[in-house]
Amino acid sequence: MDSLNYDFVVLGSGIAGLTFALEAAAQNKVLVLCKAALAETNTAYAQGGIAAVLSATDSFEQHIQDTLTAGAGLCDELAVRFMVARAPAAIKWLQQQSVLFDTATDETIALGLEGGHSQNRIAHVKDHTGLSIQQALSKAVLQHPNITVLEYHFGLDLLTQTIGQEKVCYGVQVLDMVTGNYKTILAKAIVLATGGSGQVYQFTTNPTIATGDGLAMARRAGAAIRNMEFFQFHPTALYDPGSSDTFLISEALRGAGAELVLPDGGSFMQQYHPLGSLAPRDIVARAVYEQMHMHQSECLYLDATRLPGGRLQRNFPGIYTRCKSIGVDAVTDLIPIVPAAHYQCGGVVTNLHGQTSIVGLYAIGEVACTGIHGANRLASNSLLEGVVFAREAAKHVKVSDLQLHCTAFKSVVYSLPDNRDDKIVLKTKKALQTLMWEKVGIVRTAEGLLHATYELAELKYSLKYLQGYSAAVQEVKNLLTVVELILDACVLRRESVGGHFMEYEPVQLQTRIQDICS
Ligand code: FAD
Ligand code: SIN
Repeated sequence: MDSLNYDFVVLGSGIAGLTFALEAAAQNKVLVLCKAALAETNTAYAQGGIAAVLSATDSFEQHIQDTLTAGAGLCDELAVRFMVARAPAAIKWLQQQSVLFDTATDETIALGLEGGHSQNRIAHVKDHTGLSIQQALSKAVLQHPNITVLEYHFGLDLLTQTIGQEKVCYGVQVLDMVTGNYKTILAKAIVLATGGSGQVYQFTTNPTIATGDGLAMARRAGAAIRNMEFFQFHPTALYDPGSSDTFLISEALRGAGAELVLPDGGSFMQQYHPLGSLAPRDIVARAVYEQMHMHQSECLYLDATRLPGGRLQRNFPGIYTRCKSIGVDAVTDLIPIVPAAHYQCGGVVTNLHGQTSIVGLYAIGEVACTGIHGANRLASNSLLEGVVFAREAAKHVKVSDLQLHCTAFKSVVYSLPDNRDDKIVLKTKKALQTLMWEKVGIVRTAEGLLHATYELAELKYSLKYLQGYSAAVQEVKNLLTVVELILDACVLRRESVGGHFMEYEPVQLQTRIQDICS
């Protein structure tokens, strides 16, 4: 087993991890680990853009109020104010890293509109904002003399010890997925930037890396976690049953004038919200779900034919091309859409500096719960949160007096699992994804949650005898931990709010479960 020493170890190479690395590396040695290629992140798939107050007609107060409204009253207002005030500087920092945002004719940043925003405030690079950010940050990190990147290195577990009253994190156990070697990496601070857990659902816009590993590691280490019942569903993923991935049709398209319509072409969103197709995302996703059921339709449609000529191809080339590839010419045809799991609003609890409840352990980006998103995230606030809190964490970690805490260090002996386990791992993963989609999806019932709780116990049992540590085994165990966290949170949440919507009102779930059981 190799043992390596760094000042800071960052798990994750998306917007949050790379921003932290670049900001902390001026005076420190930083190691960035990722379980796939450097650029295979949720960040790279982001389409719409990044929110910030950048025009004279907009104000911090409006961005704050839009965020609080979308969050359905459960945001931490202090954190929201903190982030919104730092958003313009975050955009400037990204520009300094060579992100070339689209500009208007007067050379200022062109600002798009998305759901829940009362102003045009989304900085973007056509419909591939995330990819442009990922490429710029990846390049900067690879050129930095103080940053080492190890791709295909899977974080297995955090190393912690208790000193007095405090739990302290001093390292991480890692699997080199290429050689099969296990490594122990020690550092003054460990930064979780592992992204979300969309893979917990059968249909998700998230790439396969999004298995909630950092969240599960934090849970095993005993860190505080909250708001896991609030999983955000995006209303417009491309309906393409022939495809293995779920392609997003950006909300920015609705911001540019596209409308959600029924199979007969009729509008329906005005009956749900005065903002129509641009209402907060949880409301739109539920409306689409309800209308699909009412019309017994496998999908609804997005009408982008009303955009001015040429705009679709010019501003949304990725969406236009993907639709074309399945025979939909979005200039003249309606785009078939369905909702899909999109974003984990809860996560590892942090303060404004990214500190978790464990000394030496930081969490930034989608894995963290800063309190910004409350019960439902406002569009394009996620990339922003990643940059703002990564920069704050880097500032904080530099001035704090962290030392290596590894007095109790004992090397754990790991071994690879048997290849014959692959089948059971795959079967369990598919079963849990279907279970979550069917029982803990956009609209939830007490019966569904109860069923999911029983089924979870069985799925956990099916993995009980798996020995050994591979990325695949660990991922499915981590997904089960995420399911458990979501179900626990659902049972405790008494009311329907934001991303947690129960069919019955008012919801007294515990009582209902008792009724069902008796
Ligand atoms: P990620 O970018 O997901 O990176 C996670 C990293 O962690 C990866 O490098 C991965 O390899 C690594 N990792 C995970 N587990 C391990 C492990 N066990 N060991 C080692 N490494 C590990 N948000 C917006 O604000 N605007 C948008 O327009 C937007 N569009 C989106 C479109 C799509 C299709 C999707 C999926 C999301 C979108 N989002 C958008 C959300 C946003 O992209 C993500 O929330 C954000 O990119 C998360 O960044 P991150 O740095 O936290 O994690
Ligand atoms: C989108 O482009 O619709 C996604 C925006 C987001 O998730 O914030």
